[in-house]
Amino acid sequence: GRVAVLMGGTSAEREVSLDSGRGVLEALRSRGVDAFAVDGIAALIEAIRAGSVDRVFNILHGNKGGGEDGVLQGVLEALGVPYTGSDVLGSALTMDKIRTKQVWMASNLPTPRYKRIAPGEDVHAAARELGLPVIIKPSSEGSSVGISRVLEDAGIDEAVALAARYPGEMLMEQMIIGDELTVAVLVNGSGHTALPSIRIVPKGEWYDYHAKYIADDTQYLCPGLDGAAEDEIRRLAIAAFVAAGCKGWGRVDVMHDRSSGQFYLIEVNTAPGMTSHSLVPKAARQVGIEYDELCWRVLEATVA
Ligand code: DAL
Ligand code: MG
Repeated sequence: GRVAVLMGGTSAEREVSLDSGRGVLEALRSRGVDAFAVDGIAALIEAIRAGSVDRVFNILHGNKGGGEDGVLQGVLEALGVPYTGSDVLGSALTMDKIRTKQVWMASNLPTPRYKRIAPGEDVHAAARELGLPVIIKPSSEGSSVGISRVLEDAGIDEAVALAARYPGEMLMEQMIIGDELTVAVLVNGSGHTALPSIRIVPKGEWYDYHAKYIADDTQYLCPGLDGAAEDEIRRLAIAAFVAAGCKGWGRVDVMHDRSSGQFYLIEVNTAPGMTSHSLVPKAARQVGIEYDELCWRVLEATVA
């Protein structure tokens, strides 16, 4: 059947999604799939109405017009069209970093301490309570959009103002000093596979939008850890994915505390980047799964 590769949209991650989408489209075509590109949810609905869509490969990143917040999934459920990745529940939950953390905490899974920053909140008191340094971020963005690292009290107000430019809530999170890692999870039948972790070593101070998509000097170590620690992070990633109700595939971001060795769950991405700079393709390659094959497997894991 015909596969619509859904990309673009209107979220802050539009450009990233177009880049991911071009890669996926080409990969599926090279595997003989009758695939075509669709930009945004409105255009997808039109294509479905015209009868030209049998399945959707969702690589539309972000919320509010993006494909990761459950809205798209609800529409496709209603129209009876199968799609890749998480369903309504897992998508809506993980697009909300605050509530994802609450579910993990209730499941005894480790995640940094945080405070929700409501309008009018005394943000300086919140920072004192958590202890500096902290991270301030919109609860529902991706690709580091709107995120600041705050090392001293003087930086708090600017960080809050930046995060406030994006829709939805905001959180302040204890900053874990250590390594940033990520683990891709693939679902095959009823089983879950965690790909080798990737440890991200940005050239600058941290892995921001520039380091993610523009700079070519970010270093990626895969597998990111050895022995028992690597086993542990993969187990944790699968547990985090399952606890959040995710399906199909996804990528779990994790911090590794340098002094204690403890892992902390940061978030799940339900339509992870598939650009030439992106992480899931790198992890797959490490175990001999080339980009085209990866796209094929994600498509095969479609929730019908
Ligand atoms: N949100 C971006 C696309 C990612 O997680 O890869
Ligand atoms: Mg993200």
